[in-house]
Amino acid sequence: MKPVQVGLIGWGTVGCGVARLLTESGNRYHQRLGTQLILRKVADLDLETPRPMNLDPRLLTRQAQDILDDPEIDIVVELIGGVDAARELVMVAIARGKHVVTANKHLLALYGNEIFQAAAQAGVEIGFEGSVGGGIPLILSLRQGLAANRIQEMFGILNGTANYILTRMAAEGASFQQALQEAQDQGYAEADPSLDVEGTDTAHKLAILMALAYGVPINFEAIAIEGISDLELVDLQFAREFGYQIKLLAITRDDGERIEARVHPTMIPLDHILANVNGAYNAVYITGDAVGPILLYGQGAGMMSTGSAVVADLIELARNLTHGIKRRLPALGIEHVSQTNREVKPLDDLITNYYFRFAAQDRPGVLSKVAGILGQNQISIAAVIQKGRGLQESVPIVMITHEAREAHVRQALAAIDQLPEIAHKTILLRIEDPGLDAAQI
Ligand code: HSE
Repeated sequence: MKPVQVGLIGWGTVGCGVARLLTESGNRYHQRLGTQLILRKVADLDLETPRPMNLDPRLLTRQAQDILDDPEIDIVVELIGGVDAARELVMVAIARGKHVVTANKHLLALYGNEIFQAAAQAGVEIGFEGSVGGGIPLILSLRQGLAANRIQEMFGILNGTANYILTRMAAEGASFQQALQEAQDQGYAEADPSLDVEGTDTAHKLAILMALAYGVPINFEAIAIEGISDLELVDLQFAREFGYQIKLLAITRDDGERIEARVHPTMIPLDHILANVNGAYNAVYITGDAVGPILLYGQGAGMMSTGSAVVADLIELARNLTHGIKRRLPALGIEHVSQTNREVKPLDDLITNYYFRFAAQDRPGVLSKVAGILGQNQISIAAVIQKGRGLQESVPIVMITHEAREAHVRQALAAIDQLPEIAHKTILLRIEDPGLDAAQI
């Protein structure tokens, strides 16, 4: 049988993982496919920086064009990251009738609809398992394993860097900067780490998962996003005192009418299964109407784990090629024409429990003023902690609330932050704990 030939564009962290798997595990793939999966060319602008692996120099080129122009190459792997150049490469590859594998969630979150449509028209496939959850077969699961279900909700830890930072801060009191540096040293972080810590990368991934789960077009713009850069160690400590862990979560829920789509640091009970997902690990807790809740867990970032997902796509595409099968499965698990738009619930309509950390002067009457404003906005307090006394400019007053409406919360905090006794902007965190209000009744 004719070998399947691969051109790899981008020899960075994940590119090294893919190149290593293809060059070192070729025999195993041969057995699985009945033909060879050959790494034919590798393109990168920088061929000088030492890599954790060596490649035959005859495979290397600085010109991505050499791969796009090579008629022997069946599948182009795009691993350069970023948006504009990657989009150009992918669209040219599709136009030339080549199948594409990418781990580029940023690209797919912004231009996935256009790319999948172009691929469908050209009769080629796009593999993107590595774009969400690193090595976890998450896209496969939503597209195939859970196809019988209506997805009711998903909670995801989808960014290894942010989870690594929160884990190091919570467990060892590491500073934010120190933990971020470590994540960068491990190759988890994006080239621009603000994408990791501001929640954008998580939202890119959520946009892709929502399209798979609900049969909607990819709609990154609809997601409400907050990151972890305003969090302080003290918030992680207070959370623990209340019985919670803080995780950067992607949350989506289908209430039958509208869907929630949000990314923010979230307090979850210490005994919740996601509270114990640590380091660069990712996990997604999915509830389907037939299957009930399931958990998918694994390394969400890194050379070999994401490489594993990219090569899984290559093997799948190579199987289709060797059997002459075309587009057996639509990229997002649903034919383009069957996609329907769903209304996304504005964050103002969210009803949940909240954590507030006020920086208040320690004077008689301050707490009653704060509580008064909360009361005027229909926000009821479930618990309060005040730590420290006295001479500092301000002390933290921490509260958790009963269920309240986000619009009321924002209105109340805007008024509270105007009080002369409040030293700086109040920290707000949302809590996901169905037992909280139930326990108080
Ligand atoms: N920067 C991403 C992360 C890489 O930290 O999870 C994997 O998408």
